[in-house]
Amino acid sequence: MTQDIVPGTPAVTVTGVDKTFETRSGQVHALQGIDLEVAAGEFVSLIGPSGCGKSTLMRLIADLDQATSGSISVFGKPPGRARRDQDYGIAFQQAGLLPWRTVAGNVSLPLELHGDRGRAGRVAELLEMVGLSDFGDRYPDQLSGGMQQRVAIARALAERPKLLLMDEPFGALDEMTRERMQTELVRICAETGAAVVFVTHSIPEAVFLSDRVVVMSPRPGRIQEIVPMRLESTSSRTEALREDETFFAMVTAVREALHQGSHAPRGVENR
Ligand SMILES: Nc1ncnc2c1ncn2[C@@H]1O[C@H](COP(=O)(O)OP(=O)(O)O)[C@@H](O)[C@H]1O
Ligand SMILES: [Mg+2]
Repeated sequence: MTQDIVPGTPAVTVTGVDKTFETRSGQVHALQGIDLEVAAGEFVSLIGPSGCGKSTLMRLIADLDQATSGSISVFGKPPGRARRDQDYGIAFQQAGLLPWRTVAGNVSLPLELHGDRGRAGRVAELLEMVGLSDFGDRYPDQLSGGMQQRVAIARALAERPKLLLMDEPFGALDEMTRERMQTELVRICAETGAAVVFVTHSIPEAVFLSDRVVVMSPRPGRIQEIVPMRLESTSSRTEALREDETFFAMVTAVREALHQGSHAPRGVENR
């Protein structure tokens, strides 16, 4: 659990990370010289062309793969230790729910795996947080894509992680649902104080959610620029921000940073 974390420790520290994949057709240099620090409670988005290594970087932080060189720490620990301590929750593009378990059963899975007492109360609290209190006994295939994503987020939050790793979690959702989910995520983060590393293809989504937007360049993925969002604090952002001049200014700033990449930012759309 996360209580052994020294206050003020960054959520994520990435130092000089390179990642090369060995494939049958040769080496793929996916990441080069990545340096990044995400503070506790900070919301950082990664944006960049398809194939620039965003998912690879997420997988390294989540201990699902190992860097070729450089180092990563999560709350000052090696990623493997942070993983065992359940310091972070993961929500990736596909909700990844177990179809034979109910909504409540999916959300309670991490709690069951760690023998948590008071499970029923916690599951009810989580379902309420994502607005699914009435759906606990449904099965995933009875829910819309947006609801399934909310179940996945509730599950990621079950162990009260101080870090959420989210790789295009709203990628499959229609625009309306997507904006609603963004607003909900802002609220959930304000409630839990969790830091978030969030991958998206959408510039407005990155701007709406983030304290800072990390713009990556094409392969080998490097950090092109880190754009601070000069907006009200993430916890007080509302729908009105989407119509605000300052919001459009930040969208432009991120788009320009993307265009400064050595190639045209293929695969990045202004969604
Ligand atoms: N397991 C793997 N084996 C070989 N190449 C990989 C593997 N995973 C990713 N890659 C390659 O690394 C690069 C970065 O991929 P990825 O991190 O998925 O990019 P992104 O998420 O930014 O679209 C791509 O060229 C991809 O083909
Ligand atoms: Mg990806």
